[in-house]
Amino acid sequence: MSPHLVRLILAAGVLVFLMTADVFALDNAASTDSFQTQVDDILEQMTLAEKIGQMTQVNAPGSPVPEDLRAALKQGAIGSILNEVNVETVNQLQRIVVEESRLGIPLLMGRDVIHGFKTVLPIPLGQAATWNPDLVREGARISALEAAASGINWTFAPMIDVTRDPRWGRIAESLGEDPFLASVLGVAMVEGFQGDNLAATGTIAACAKHFAGYGASESGRDYNTVNIPENELRNVYLPPFKAAVESGVATIMASFSDLNGVPATGNPFLMRQVLRREWGFEGFVVSDWASIEQLSVHGFTADDKGSALEALKAGVNMEMATTTYADHLAALLEEGQISMQQIDEMVAGILQLKFQLGLFEQPYTDPRALPAVSNEDHLEIARKAALQSMVLLENRENALPLVKENLRSLAVIGPMADDAYEQLGTWIFDGDPAISQTPLQVLRERAGDQFTINHVRAMETTRSRATDAFAEAVKAAENSDAVVVFLGEEAILSGEAHSRANIDLPGNQADLVRLLHGTGKPVIAVVMAGRPLTLGNVLDYVDALLFAWHPGTMAGPAIADILFGVESPSGKLPVTFPRMVGQVPIYYAHKQGGKPATAETFTHIDDIPVRMPQSSSGFVSSHLDAGFTPQYVFGYGLSYTEFSYSEIGLSSNSLALDESVTVKAVVSNTGDVEADEIVQLYVRDLVGNVTRPVKELKGFQRLRLKPGESRTVEFVIGPDDIAFYGRDMKLINEPGDFHVWIGGSSKAELRAEFTVNPK
Ligand code: BGC
Repeated sequence: MSPHLVRLILAAGVLVFLMTADVFALDNAASTDSFQTQVDDILEQMTLAEKIGQMTQVNAPGSPVPEDLRAALKQGAIGSILNEVNVETVNQLQRIVVEESRLGIPLLMGRDVIHGFKTVLPIPLGQAATWNPDLVREGARISALEAAASGINWTFAPMIDVTRDPRWGRIAESLGEDPFLASVLGVAMVEGFQGDNLAATGTIAACAKHFAGYGASESGRDYNTVNIPENELRNVYLPPFKAAVESGVATIMASFSDLNGVPATGNPFLMRQVLRREWGFEGFVVSDWASIEQLSVHGFTADDKGSALEALKAGVNMEMATTTYADHLAALLEEGQISMQQIDEMVAGILQLKFQLGLFEQPYTDPRALPAVSNEDHLEIARKAALQSMVLLENRENALPLVKENLRSLAVIGPMADDAYEQLGTWIFDGDPAISQTPLQVLRERAGDQFTINHVRAMETTRSRATDAFAEAVKAAENSDAVVVFLGEEAILSGEAHSRANIDLPGNQADLVRLLHGTGKPVIAVVMAGRPLTLGNVLDYVDALLFAWHPGTMAGPAIADILFGVESPSGKLPVTFPRMVGQVPIYYAHKQGGKPATAETFTHIDDIPVRMPQSSSGFVSSHLDAGFTPQYVFGYGLSYTEFSYSEIGLSSNSLALDESVTVKAVVSNTGDVEADEIVQLYVRDLVGNVTRPVKELKGFQRLRLKPGESRTVEFVIGPDDIAFYGRDMKLINEPGDFHVWIGGSSKAELRAEFTVNPK
C-alpha cells in the first residue's frame, strides 16, 4: 500500500475493513517513523528518470571517477554504488550527487562486509560455532566501525540462509543448519551493524540475504535450482528472515535461485506476500548481482524488459549491477504495464533508508571521527571469536592440551600453519593479511627458548599432490616430541561458486597425516576449512583434531591458547558432519519417518551374510555403508573438562495452549579445568498436523564453570517457541505431548515431558 494511500485513509477517518495482512501493513505504515513527510516531499519533486535512478546501483568506478559516471551522478541516475572503499573517492562521489545533482540525494555505498573488514573475524560458520550472540554482535559492530571509516554505509550481510549441504561453498558464509541458531545469531549481526541508531557515526545498514531458500541449492551446486515445499520453507528457511525483519533489518537481498519454479528475484509470493504483507517489512529489497537480468536466463522471462517487469511487480526496489530497470521501467510505465504508484513505493523505501542513515545531514565520511581500524580492541574481539569458534572433535588419551614443560621440541607441519592469507577464509575483500597472526608465528613466540619448533610446510597448498617434502616432514616429526599438523582447505575452496562434490581433505593431506602417524609421535591435527569435511580417512591417524574453520586475523593466538591449555576449546558444531558425502543432506532436526533405523535394526554392508534373503535385512531407513548417524552431530564439541547434566525439572507438566513452561537442569563441571559449556535445549512435539522434527533447538546458553562448580540453568518455553506452520500454512499451536531435553549437544539425553491441553 502506498504511503499516500495510507495517509488518505487515515485522514478521511474511514473505517476500512481489510484482510488481516493488510491491517498489519496499515499499522506498520501508519507507525512509520518521522521521515515519511521528507520522503514524500522529495518524491513529489522527482522526475521519473530520477526515481528510476534511485533504483539503480552500479559497481565501483575506481579513481578518477570516469566522465560518463560523473554525468550520470549529476543527472541523479544512480542511487547507490557498491565496492568503492577508498574514502576520498567515496566522498568525491557523494559530493557530485549532493552538490551537483538537482535534488542532492546522497548515495548508499554498499560493500560485502561478511566477517570483518580489515580485521577479519572467523567465517560466519565459525562464528556460529561460538553460539555466542554477544560476541557475534560485537564482531559486527567492529566490522561496521572499520567499514564506515571507508565511507561504507550499507553491508550485504548477514547471510542467514539455512543450509544443510556441506558441499555448497557458501555454507562458509552461513550460520549453519538450524533455523533457531541462525535466527539468534543473524539478529545479533543485524544489531551489531545497525546499533540503536542508523544515523550514528560507525553504524551501517544491514542486509539479510538471500531471500529465500538459496541454501537448498540442489546437490550443493551454487546457483542451482531450489525446490522447497511451502511448509518446509516456512518452518525451516524463513524463520531467520522473519527474525531479522522483527529486529529492524534495513534491507533484504533477493536470491539468485529459482524457488519452486519462480526465481526468487521475480517471486511475488516471497517479497509481496510473505515479506511485506505477512511480516510488515518496512525496509527495501535489493536484487543480487545481475539477478534481475538473469530472470531471462532462467527462462522465466523472454527478455530484459520482461525481467524488469517481473522484478518490479515482485517488489525488488533496487537493481544491483545491471540496468534492466534503467533501460525499461519508463517504457513499461508508458505502456501501462506498471504504475507510478508502484515506482513511488519502491523509491520511497530507498529514500527512507537514506534519511534513517542521516545521509542528508552528513553525506561525507571523516575517518578521524572513527576508531583506527584493527586497533587493539578489534583484534581482541577477533581473537575471542576465533577462540570460541574452534571445535575439538577428537582428543584421545588427553593428547591435548600440550604440556609446555614436557616439550623439548614440537613439529609444526602443513600448508595452513603459516599462511597469513588462507587462514582468513572466503569473502575478505578488505581483510589485511599483513596483520594476520599465523599459528607458526605465535607458536614460535610461545616456545621462546623453552622448546624448539621444527617447521615443514610439506605441501604448497592444501590441494597439492606433490609429496617430495613429505620425507622432510616425517623427519621433523621424528625429531620432535609431538606433531601439530595444520590442514584444511584454502580460502578459495569455499564461498560463492566454490562448491565441492567430494568434501574430503583435498590433495595429499590424508597421506601426509598417515605418514606422520607412522612416526609414533602424537599427532594433533588442526583443520582450517570453510565447510564440514568428511574426515574418515584421517581420523584413525590423529590423536586429537581441532576444527578451526577459517579463524581470521587472530588464528595464531587462539590456536596457541587452545593447544597449550590456556583456554579450553568451547565451540560446538552449528552443522552436522557427515561420515560420507552420500549421506547429505543429513541434519539433526530430521523427521522420524515410518521406518527409523536403530542400532539393533541396522546391518552394515560388511555384516550382511552372503545370499541373505532380503526380508531379513532390517528394512529401515539407512545407508548400508554409512549407517544412519553422522560422524559428528549438531551441537557437538569436546572440552578439556567434563560436564554432566542432572535434575531436569519443569514448572508444570500440564499446560494450557497459551501458557509457558520453565525448564531447569543442573550443569556441573566434573573435570578439573575451568571452561565454557554451551548448554542446549531441544524440544520434540510428538504428534502434529504435519509431522514434526525428532528434535528442535529452542534455547541455548554459554556459561563458564570452575572445576567442581554446578549451576542451575533455566529456559522458558512459550507458545511461540513451539508454534509451527501446519498443513494450511498458518502458524499454529496444537495440544499434545512434548519431550524436552537439556544437554551439551543434539544427542542430549536428559529428558522431561509435558502436555499442552486443548483450550
Ligand atoms: C552475491 C551476494 C553479494 C553480491 C555483491 C553476489 O554475487 O551473491 O551475496 O552481496 O554479489 O557482491
